[in-house]
Amino acid sequence: MTVTDKSSFEKKISRILITETEIRDRIHECGEQLSREYEGKPLLLVSVLKGAFIFLADLTRAVTIPCEIGFMAAQSYFSGTSSNGSVEITYDLTQDISKYHVVIVEDIIDTGRTLSEIVKLLRARDPLSLKIVTLLDKPSRRVVKIDADVSLFTIPDHFVIGYGLDCGEYYRNLPYIAEYDESIGGKE
Ligand code: IMP
Ligand code: MG
Repeated sequence: MTVTDKSSFEKKISRILITETEIRDRIHECGEQLSREYEGKPLLLVSVLKGAFIFLADLTRAVTIPCEIGFMAAQSYFSGTSSNGSVEITYDLTQDISKYHVVIVEDIIDTGRTLSEIVKLLRARDPLSLKIVTLLDKPSRRVVKIDADVSLFTIPDHFVIGYGLDCGEYYRNLPYIAEYDESIGGKE
């Protein structure tokens, strides 16, 4: 569905859960922590598209040591707010990760299915080390047991949008994280 009507778009943003300032402050802390931890080591930040693209952009700029970035894409949701339960890697890294300390930069851990598949895949490639940093964590929704090494915000079981996270491909451009109101006009 293509949306061009600004007011119906805005109606679905029910409330701001995490502000721009809160996001910025936590990313700054996380960037400093990573810079201390990986100083003098080959660091590769791996982002899982598309949802984590804004988080990666900001986190990379908060890292003050040399680092490289890489992208992967995984599909586990059709458009809308419910999971289909399967994970497909649709785009893979170009780097040989056996030469790097790898930090996976995720947007959100929900059921954990996507990330556990990505972790399995990356571990098999024998990186120097592997850590997970997630912007958001919804632990109450977990189906597969997996924890982030660093989680910037823990949130309740509510579908969220903004700061890279979408609903039906929209709302990624919101500068904050908001709750999506499914009650008005149904799902996308
Ligand atoms: P999983 O359920 O942990 O496998 O999450 C898979 C992916 O679904 C995440 O990386 C997000 O891209 C997306 N996702 C999960 N929960 C939300 C949400 O509340 N809003 C937007 N996207 C979500
Ligand atoms: Mg994601």
